Amino acid sequence: MPQLRYSEEELLASHDYARPHEVAGRGLHGGFDASGCYIPPRLLHRGPAVEAWTAALIRRGGGPLDAGPSLLDGIRFPNPAQQKLMIREGLGQTFWNTLTITGHIEARGRILADMAFPELQGSIEEDISEMGIGHLNRGLLRAHGLDEGGEPERGIGGHDVMWFALRDLAFGETGWPDPEVPANIARPDDQADPFPQLVPAIVRTVHFLANLLMIEFRAERGFSFSERLLLDPELFTERRAQAEEAAEVVNRIRTDEAIHVRSLRLYLGELRSISFRTRDGGHLPGRELVDTLWQGIVEWAVNEQPRLVAERTRKVLAERILAHPEGERLLREFESLQDHGE
Ligand SMILES: [Fe+2]
Ligand SMILES: [Fe+2]
Repeated sequence: MPQLRYSEEELLASHDYARPHEVAGRGLHGGFDASGCYIPPRLLHRGPAVEAWTAALIRRGGGPLDAGPSLLDGIRFPNPAQQKLMIREGLGQTFWNTLTITGHIEARGRILADMAFPELQGSIEEDISEMGIGHLNRGLLRAHGLDEGGEPERGIGGHDVMWFALRDLAFGETGWPDPEVPANIARPDDQADPFPQLVPAIVRTVHFLANLLMIEFRAERGFSFSERLLLDPELFTERRAQAEEAAEVVNRIRTDEAIHVRSLRLYLGELRSISFRTRDGGHLPGRELVDTLWQGIVEWAVNEQPRLVAERTRKVLAERILAHPEGERLLREFESLQDHGE
């Protein structure tokens, strides 16, 4: 039988790296094996654990939550062609801002490392000690949080520092001020409680995990978008080698995030497979709770949120473009690159 119970220490353990991970003088998490292949941090046992829990879930007739980043296809403003136009015309500040904001949002993920979830077992009928959801407070959330926000006290940067490092590789010193970072990128948790029969903290926890999965999907789309710009031979022409290295760093972040997506799909799949205890002594199939919350988040992320972001961004970008000496022409060109349906 594969191992299904893990200690916190095991879930936080990293591989023995042949070479540490450093970019542009910054110490970063993860490392390289002897053949130069990048290995994410804290994956020595966490990787096999998630695999073993997933296999066990499938044996019980369940499976990871069936969802992928393609949910968010076709939603992007500005799109890569518009970003490319701006970078070529000396308005790269918009892409620079995007990279900076991404770094700051990653840093917020550090909160997972110090957060204690409510103990789910008390509200769940089945024994969860051999499931991923039985290990959230036993290393899994901590590992996830450290991946996002690093361990600054040990001089180890996580995803936040990786985005800043790759931004600086591509752009060099710019002197641009740090942009304002949106307050909250998750779906607001302020709807009327659709499950009054459950303990509110449990509903909030499941909503939080589902939100986190959507944020990971959004990040996934950002990777290919950033890579495409960084690898475009017509852009960053003075700093091609650095821009290519920046694209490699993006790819390392993507490699790190794979375990986040696999874990979250597993947790939500496990939560769909169990039965919650209601406050009045009854039961609620986990599937009902997870599917209802997930549908709400999908609706928000696919329809409402992109509209809000596009409205806000459109004004800022138009002002920035019009400040260019050939602003009128550029704005027309920018608008002609608009995707249909936006
Ligand atoms: Fe991340
Ligand atoms: Fe992540």
